Amino acid sequence: MRVVVTGGAGYIGSVVTDQLIADGHEVLVIDNLVKGHLDAVHDSAQFAEIDLIECDNITNALGEFGADAVIHMAAASLVGESVTNPSKYYQENVVAGLSLLDAMRDASVTRIVFSSTAAVYGDPEKQPIEETDATTPTNPYGAAKLAFEHALRWYGQAYGLSSISLRYFNAAGATTRRGERHDPETHLIPLVLDVAAGRRPEILVFGDDYDTPDGTCVRDYIHVEDLARAHTLALQALDAPGVARSYNLGCGGTGYSVRQVLDAAIRVTGTDIPMRVVERRAGDPPVLVASSQRIAQDLGWQPQRQELDEILTTAWQWMQQPAHPSR
Ligand code: UFG
Repeated sequence: MRVVVTGGAGYIGSVVTDQLIADGHEVLVIDNLVKGHLDAVHDSAQFAEIDLIECDNITNALGEFGADAVIHMAAASLVGESVTNPSKYYQENVVAGLSLLDAMRDASVTRIVFSSTAAVYGDPEKQPIEETDATTPTNPYGAAKLAFEHALRWYGQAYGLSSISLRYFNAAGATTRRGERHDPETHLIPLVLDVAAGRRPEILVFGDDYDTPDGTCVRDYIHVEDLARAHTLALQALDAPGVARSYNLGCGGTGYSVRQVLDAAIRVTGTDIPMRVVERRAGDPPVLVASSQRIAQDLGWQPQRQELDEILTTAWQWMQQPAHPSR
């Protein structure tokens, strides 16, 4: 298949691109490189530096490449920033996304896999979360992702677009070649490992008075290779015109608390990790754990790396590589 990956120079996008190429697909990465890294794009992938808002340029790129399908991962993705700057999130995650969909229509590309998020559920009433549960986002990031999911449904009904939205829980870990490189970094695992590596003095724990077993927030960490594998499975399943589906992507179980992540990081790195409990971070739901039964049943997806220590080990090994790019 000839697959376009928007955001393919980013953390998850680069792993998806690697897997597509390993599976024998042709890939065109489209990325504006505002956050992505050119050196994270596989050598065998084609690359075009285009912003999705440039609809005509995207149409031309899709046409010239002869795209069969799009995996749309390009997005702004900081929950906190979305609260203080919702305009950016509606512009980049909705307006630019619609520009991509219209370019796809112009180029007669009818299949798309979309990177959605657990943030569409807001503060859920029950765990684990199922796709049939209420979607009531509590921040503009989740609201904009949900708005785009809705657009996919209406575009399916009206124009025959076939779509699968993958609602990511907490992507984590690394492959031998790719890992997390955000600037600024806000995610727990890379920050904790930065402390272990001596690059930061301490980790701040955002609240230990939640109604959870140890008082810290619980999340569902999913290894980036397991997450990426779901995209290649979804691509194969995009055959019915007009059908829009959504799937959760997490490991399920009971999830892991912030304290459990710190304990695992101490085990994996063999170093002490100074921590300090501070105020809660605005907008953090106490618990987010996925039921991924629907994607298991429909697409046969199963996570291979569910142990937190193993996930952290992959991230730590990637950070230890001499070639690890400085942040
Ligand atoms: N945390 C800390 N200290 C830190 C960083 C994080 O205690 O320095 C805590 C957070 O409060 C949270 C947990 O660690 O309880 C995980 O935080 P992350 O920032 O790593 O991840 P989030 O769960 O906030 O965000 C993830 C995705 C988002 C998605 C969101 C859904 O990264 O894209 O889940 O709520 F929107």
